[in-house]
Amino acid sequence: MKRKVLTVCLGALVLVVAAIAVYRLVIRKSIPEASREEQVALILERNGCLVCHSTDAELPFYSNFPVIGPQMQAHIRAGVRFFDLGAEMDDISSMSEAALSKLDHAVSYSTMPVHSYRMVHWGSGLNKAEKSLIAAWIEEKRGYAEPVWPIAKSVEYDEAKADLGERMFNDARLSLDGTISCATCHVLESGGADHEDERVSEGIYGLKGGVNAPTVYNAEYNARQFWNGRAADLVEQAAGPATNPVEMGDQSLEDVVSRLSKDKALVAEFESLYPGVGLTGETLCHAIAEFERTLITPDSRFDLYLEGDETALSEIEKQGYEAFKKNSCAACHFGAALGGRSFEYVDVYGDYFADRTAEIEYNSDDEGLKGFTLKDEDLHRFKVPVLRNVALTAPYFHDGSFQSLEEAVRAMARYELGKSLSGKDVESIVAFLNTLTGVNPHLIVEK
Ligand code: HEC
Ligand code: HEC
Ligand code: HEC
Repeated sequence: MKRKVLTVCLGALVLVVAAIAVYRLVIRKSIPEASREEQVALILERNGCLVCHSTDAELPFYSNFPVIGPQMQAHIRAGVRFFDLGAEMDDISSMSEAALSKLDHAVSYSTMPVHSYRMVHWGSGLNKAEKSLIAAWIEEKRGYAEPVWPIAKSVEYDEAKADLGERMFNDARLSLDGTISCATCHVLESGGADHEDERVSEGIYGLKGGVNAPTVYNAEYNARQFWNGRAADLVEQAAGPATNPVEMGDQSLEDVVSRLSKDKALVAEFESLYPGVGLTGETLCHAIAEFERTLITPDSRFDLYLEGDETALSEIEKQGYEAFKKNSCAACHFGAALGGRSFEYVDVYGDYFADRTAEIEYNSDDEGLKGFTLKDEDLHRFKVPVLRNVALTAPYFHDGSFQSLEEAVRAMARYELGKSLSGKDVESIVAFLNTLTGVNPHLIVEK
């Protein structure tokens, strides 16, 4: 008798569990007819993505339980910091490029939701149909199947203004004491960044700033300019160095203009190219920016590979590109320039600043985006640097902490991903990064 009851109970239990499984895996997973965007939103919601990736999600009932509760809450803190999906869901049709790239990674490599969540919510985890639907949507949004794509072969620009801008870029009269031009710190022949032995740039009177000079090559692709994004575009950026006390030393752009105005030929040239306006702070910056727009570097070996030339990369370089995608690197270093489009915390998984060598003192440039937005949540978020020509732009990071690509890649894994890469992955990723050196008439690459 007892055994019979037990068998019936067990049978009932199995049935209930099976029913829940059918419900979770089949019925609840069916995707209704709707616009693709609505379908994507539904899939993300059903799979719990918003539970950990938004600040205002309704928490599951067990989030107050001992042990599992605190673990859940820690997941949510890390999840939101890494990827604030909630902020993107108000209007999913305008999801940011950065969010698309992160989503792409989680979907392509089936990394989400995290294991502990799947244990409780089985049936969460994207199935094949859900994955291919999201992947197709992402591809449609960015117009390319890969998270990175080739640099444009050419840009439209005004030749006469760019030519004038080039001369201004190289003109030391832009600095207070006539010793420093843009090209002093952005050496075009060798990568567009500062000299390799300069951790931070040396400006007028030998004064030093707090950050490493990024390259001007492909800066056009940056969503904003500077490590902390304080300039909206290249025109706005060009006004910065001249009036920076440690770079070129002037009080205002007007000081620069009045100095240049002594050169009558130059004044006449500005007048002819900018009729009725002539030489002003604005036209000076415009001409320089027009020149900088020509500083794109297409036709790297990696571009040739993306364009279909299988032989352009060696085996190890191809493996490096795969490892770059698999290890989330492309989730932040995405787009034509492999970066420049978003701001990310440099200390997701470790206290980058505490670990730094003692000779670099914490300074206001270390605040990152917060230095510009003044928002606490932007502390330690930096513009993701472009990786085009990265083989030529050592030292690396905003503070110039690392001399070699190998060190930079290891640090990325440690602080952005919370893991260490195998020696083989580091080697192949570095080999891949070395294929990103492109072509520009100003750039001299030693073979
Ligand atoms: C239980 C909490 C939780 C849930 C549910 C969850 N995530 Fe995450 N997610 C995290 C945490 C924590 C991280 C930080 C990285 C890690 O620990 O793996 C993360 C990292 C990520 C990342 C960056 C790393 C990567 O692998 O690409 C993406 C993208 C992401 N989640 C997307 C999603 C999506 C899409 C879903 C829904 C299918 C989801 N997450 C569900 C907690 C969660
Ligand atoms: C004394 C060295 C120095 C001089 C001179 C200098 N720069 Fe820079 N440049 C830097 C440093 C350092 C940064 C990074 C500053 C920051 O992000 O806060 C930078 C940033 C930039 C950026 C932004 C790139 C990016 O990825 O955000 C551009 C573009 C640029 N400079 C162009 C110029 C132009 C144009 C001039 C001349 C008008 C110039 N620079 C003069 C050192 C210099
Ligand atoms: C969460 C976003 C994120 C991920 C993931 C990420 N990076 Fe970065 N990467 C950044 C940011 C932000 C910086 C700038 C850090 C700083 O200057 O303090 C950076 C800097 C770099 C630099 C130095 C470039 C320079 O010019 O200074 C290299 C090289 C690099 N990353 C490669 C990688 C590789 C390889 C991976 C994968 C193993 C990776 N990154 C993963 C955001 C990311």
